[in-house]
Amino acid sequence: MKVRIFPDLESLSLAAANLFVEKAKSSIESTGQFAVALAGGNTPKELYRLLASSPYRGQVDWARVQFFFGDERWVPRSDPASNEGMARENLLNLIPAKPENIHPMYTGGSVEDACASYEAKLKQIAPSGLDFTMLGMGDDGHTASLFPGISELQEEQLWVVPTQSPKGVPQRISLTFPALEKSQLILFLVAGADKHANLELALSRQPQSWPPSGVLAHRAKNVHWFLDPLAAGSTIAPSS
Ligand code: 6PG
Repeated sequence: MKVRIFPDLESLSLAAANLFVEKAKSSIESTGQFAVALAGGNTPKELYRLLASSPYRGQVDWARVQFFFGDERWVPRSDPASNEGMARENLLNLIPAKPENIHPMYTGGSVEDACASYEAKLKQIAPSGLDFTMLGMGDDGHTASLFPGISELQEEQLWVVPTQSPKGVPQRISLTFPALEKSQLILFLVAGADKHANLELALSRQPQSWPPSGVLAHRAKNVHWFLDPLAAGSTIAPSS
């Protein structure tokens, strides 16, 4: 688990863009594709805008990228709460991605049916797991739409499940621990003082105190935490 602390969100996002491009190139070179899961929320917006602009836009063979989502609020992409809508506005509409390689979670039908079809598609395109998963962390320590205390934290078979959020849009759809932990690389982007308390718990050596983001980070194989000074506070140090 690698922890890096950046002076601000801009430098954090620049480092994330460089890591994304590096991994995209190596994955496309070795397998012909780069299967990513995009994060929702606000933190990744600056990263997405960087990737959609020079020089990064010209450094990725976007037609070879398979775009998945880590989770979604169960609303149409036109809704301001939609993670897909945010990703399209800040990245997907601004790069030459193949429309058929963008895999939205929201379908408008039943969320249970959507979970089953999303899982089938993910297993078809990335059977051994995603190449690059971007995630944020809520101030309660949730990641994707895996919230503290929900029963879906115990799911060990399904890759995609419906969940309920205690805040905002209640109906969610989310990748699960078994799906997320298979990723070749997980990049957590965490900024803001409100994240510090649960970030400390997530990085602690006490498994019983880990919030969902911490549980995933300790299950996954290659985890990078990119933090700003407010999230890191005075108690979290860089580590490699
Ligand atoms: C979501 C995200 C969620 C997000 C965190 C952090 O759908 O809300 O997937 O897990 O990453 O809530 O959100 P911010 O980046 O806005 O702080």
